[in-house]
Amino acid sequence: MGYIDDEVKRLQSIVDSLDGRIKALEKSQIGGPKPKTAEEIRMILIGPPGAGKGTQAPKIKEKFACCHLATGDMLRSQVAKKTTLGREAKKIMDQGGLVSDDIVIGMIKEELENNQECKGGFILDGFPRTVPQAESLDAMLRERNQTLQHAVELQIDDALLVARITGRLVHPASGRTYHSTFNPPKLAMTDDVTGEPLIQRSDDNAEALKKRLATYHKQTAPVVGYYQNTGIWKAIDASQEPGQVWKSLLTIFDNDKAKAKSSGSGILSKLAGRS
Ligand code: AP5
Repeated sequence: MGYIDDEVKRLQSIVDSLDGRIKALEKSQIGGPKPKTAEEIRMILIGPPGAGKGTQAPKIKEKFACCHLATGDMLRSQVAKKTTLGREAKKIMDQGGLVSDDIVIGMIKEELENNQECKGGFILDGFPRTVPQAESLDAMLRERNQTLQHAVELQIDDALLVARITGRLVHPASGRTYHSTFNPPKLAMTDDVTGEPLIQRSDDNAEALKKRLATYHKQTAPVVGYYQNTGIWKAIDASQEPGQVWKSLLTIFDNDKAKAKSSGSGILSKLAGRS
């Protein structure tokens, strides 16, 4: 009996000492620098014209300190500079068609490789818009040993988009958007931040919108199917007011965090071989 008591005491002291060391290690991890990937985000926003991609993406950028890459904005910047690409792209954009896959894939690749802001992750707005673009994105990420975390679809009925698109006002230099009714600037046709004039996009009229929607349903809807098969697709009701849409996005991020936590990233889970 004496031997068993001694052995239990000895084992208890080992357990106590290990427990103390685990707590100390966990404490030093909490206080230390966060792992680089902890707040990194790699996601895409899919949705028809006017769904709210450009409205929500800057908030995600602010939350995660990542880059916001909008292929539409990049193309409009080429149009503004009157480059050869810009001139060609403008014709296609005003007709509601899609610019060639090679051009937009090249633009995204260049940004992911060279834009310092993308080191903290990225949010892609308006890309990928075709299945070949989605496949190219996967290949680009594979080369960097990365994967996408979220493919979020902003779902909304076409009928609600006419008012959104025809009332949109844009500050071209920053990409900030307003709406004449739903989100008016403080001073008519004037950017709240810089005081510069706002414009209407040349493709923001009812006729071009009809074509843009047809293009979306034909060429971009299959991209939704592509991501539904990967398990990272989530849908949000984008007909809600912008604050509610943002809350739905936050729920997606929170659920993801909770999932990562329950799969175990602490020292004990490491000891148990769970992470
Ligand atoms: P792009 O610039 O990407 O246009 P889009 O996809 O048609 O999307 P929008 O910018 O019109 O809509 P959004 O969802 O950002 O809406 P927003 O938040 O501003 O592309 C333009 C063109 O470039 C394409 O047609 C194509 O030719 C070419 N292109 C781009 N990418 C390409 C690619 N990958 N491949 C090939 N070609 C490509 O909101 C709209 C308005 O509604 C705003 O006024 C806003 O204030 C308001 N609003 C937003 N959310 C709400 C809400 N919840 N309630 C009420 N109002 C709201």
